[in-house]
Amino acid sequence: MSTRHTTTADRAEGESPFAPNADHLRLAALHEKSDVQAESRFDRLRETEHFLSEAAVLPAEDEYLPVSAWTTHVPFMHCLVRYMRPRRFVELGSHYGTSFFAACRTVLELPGHTECIAIDSWRGDEHSSHYPEEVFEQFKRRLDSSYAGFASFVRARFGEAVGSFSDGSIDLLHIDGYHTYDAVKNDFESWLPKMSDAGIVIMHDTCVRSGNFGVFRFLDELSNRYACVNLAHDSGLAIVSVGKAQTRCQKLVEAWAADEGLANVVVEFFKCAGFFSSRYGELQKAVAERNQRQQLTEDEVASLRTEIQQAAAALAVAHTQLTEACQQIADLNQTVESVERWQKRSWFNRAFHKWRRPEASRGKIGLLKKLERSIRKRCGLN
Ligand SMILES: C[S@@+](CC[C@H](N)C(=O)[O-])C[C@H]1O[C@@H](n2cnc3c(N)ncnc32)[C@H](O)[C@@H]1O
Repeated sequence: MSTRHTTTADRAEGESPFAPNADHLRLAALHEKSDVQAESRFDRLRETEHFLSEAAVLPAEDEYLPVSAWTTHVPFMHCLVRYMRPRRFVELGSHYGTSFFAACRTVLELPGHTECIAIDSWRGDEHSSHYPEEVFEQFKRRLDSSYAGFASFVRARFGEAVGSFSDGSIDLLHIDGYHTYDAVKNDFESWLPKMSDAGIVIMHDTCVRSGNFGVFRFLDELSNRYACVNLAHDSGLAIVSVGKAQTRCQKLVEAWAADEGLANVVVEFFKCAGFFSSRYGELQKAVAERNQRQQLTEDEVASLRTEIQQAAAALAVAHTQLTEACQQIADLNQTVESVERWQKRSWFNRAFHKWRRPEASRGKIGLLKKLERSIRKRCGLN
């Protein structure tokens, strides 16, 4: 900055010493400029604070939300949807629906209308693996049961689906399909005409450099053409302002892209928020599983108790039957003994009665009488 001061010689003849001279005007201009700079920085900070404060109203945890590489970006999706209020959100690549349902869950609690459309073949690819039909069925069940009022899906290749959207009809687009450089570039370019003037694009996996992932390379190219900010934690998520409307959200993305310090604050904030929300999600799942296990144990204890009661009742019945059986055996034993006694007695009686039976004994008596008579005769006793 120049420090040259105006001297009397610089002042025009007859000019009042209090009139603003060239220095005054230069200083005033500088002040004005720094005021404007300070003011616009203050605006950027205030808007950033508004954006981040949306995180304070995170919706109720959705126990369905499957854990995926997207999990730590859920708080950002929530803040973006609340701050931006897109009229139409389209997602290219939904799989189980972590990112899609994160947006839906936020929309559910917002006034106004945001249409959400998920597009996927639900067949998988080399990066997300080729998965079974059950994945789509699970996704559809969740959508129908919780978000059918404003959310829908198109089961098709991205290239087939793009024709059914009018130009300029999408405010927020999430690109998360196949992640090679060519695939992501093709997705971006073929869907760009569908973006409205308020358009914002988000792209996932911007930090993955392994295999044939190429989103990071495409993002480098985009940052020469558009305002981009990369949330570089985990797999990475970039936000790109593509529309011309200079909406509140687009201005904010531009402010972050132009102010590295501010962008770092945002990046760090969502890194922490992502970590805490995914940790919180894990803990909630663990608690739910433990409760389920406990419930199972309680159910098992209850059914074991019932089994024990039933076994005790069966034992009591068996005991009664056993007692009765013992009694019957004792009775039978007595009967057998008395029958044996009777049998012995009756054998004697039979023998005795046989002996006494007149028909049986008659021959013997006649013989004895004959014998008696012959003895008497021989002995001369007649
Ligand atoms: C990484 S996953 C999406 C992850 C998801 N956003 C989440 O939150 O977990 C990629 C998905 O894109 C789908 N996909 C890839 N290329 C596609 C294409 N050209 N057309 C339709 N679907 C595609 C795959 O079927 C897969 O389900």
